[in-house]
Amino acid sequence: MNQTTRMAKRKVSESQSEMTELVLPNDANTLENLLGGRLMHFIDLVAALAAYRHARTHVVTASMEHIDFVAPVHVGDVVILKSSVNRAFNTSMEVGVKVWAENAIAGITRHVASAYLTFVAVDANGHRVPVPAVEPEGSEQVRRYEDAGRRREQRKIEAERKRGIVTA
Ligand SMILES: CC(C)(COP(=O)(O)OP(=O)(O)OC[C@H]1O[C@@H](n2cnc3c(N)ncnc32)[C@H](O)[C@@H]1OP(=O)(O)O)[C@@H](O)C(=O)NCCC(=O)NCCS
Repeated sequence: MNQTTRMAKRKVSESQSEMTELVLPNDANTLENLLGGRLMHFIDLVAALAAYRHARTHVVTASMEHIDFVAPVHVGDVVILKSSVNRAFNTSMEVGVKVWAENAIAGITRHVASAYLTFVAVDANGHRVPVPAVEPEGSEQVRRYEDAGRRREQRKIEAERKRGIVTA
C-alpha cells in the first residue's frame, strides 16, 4: 500500500485555480510583448495555488516542463491562467496550466501557452509529506490523469538514462 491510499481522495474541482493579470509595459520586451520569464512566473504561481489547495500543506516546485508558448501576449492584454492538479502520486503532484490572452478592447481571447509542472508537498520543516490522491471526474479529467501517469513514467526513464550517462 503506498502512502496516499490511506488518505481520502480529493476532487480536481476542489483545487482548480485561476489568476488574471493585466500586462503592463514593465512586463514586456522591446517588441512590447510579455516576457517569457514573466509568464513563467505567473504559471508557477497559479500552478502552486492548485497544488497548495490540493495538498493543504506547503509545496515546492520540483520541475516545470513542457511549456509551449503558442502565441505572443501584448502590452494591454489581460492574461487568464487556469490550473488543475492532473494527478497526485506519493508526495508529488502534476499540475497542468493553460493560459489565454484577452484583448479586452476587441473582445477577443486566444490560447497563448500551456505547461505541466510538478510540485512536492513538504511540512514546515521542509520534509516531504504524502498527498491525497486525485479523484478525476469526467472524460477530460480522466484523460489528463492517465496522461500524467504516462509522463511520470517517461520522466523516470529519462532520469535513469541521465544517471547512466553520469555514471558511465
Ligand atoms: C523537489 C524536492 C523536494 C525533491 O526532493 P528529493 O529528495 O530529491 O526527492 P525524491 O527524488 O526522493 O522524489 C520525491 C518526489 O518528487 C518527485 N520529483 C523529484 N524530482 C522531480 C522532478 N525533477 N520532476 C518531477 N518530479 C520530481 C519524485 O518523483 C517523487 O515523487 P513521489 O513522492 O510522488 O513518488 C527537492 O529536490 C527540492 O527541495 N528541490 C528544490 C525545490 C525548490 O526550491 N523549488 C523552487 C525552485 S526555485
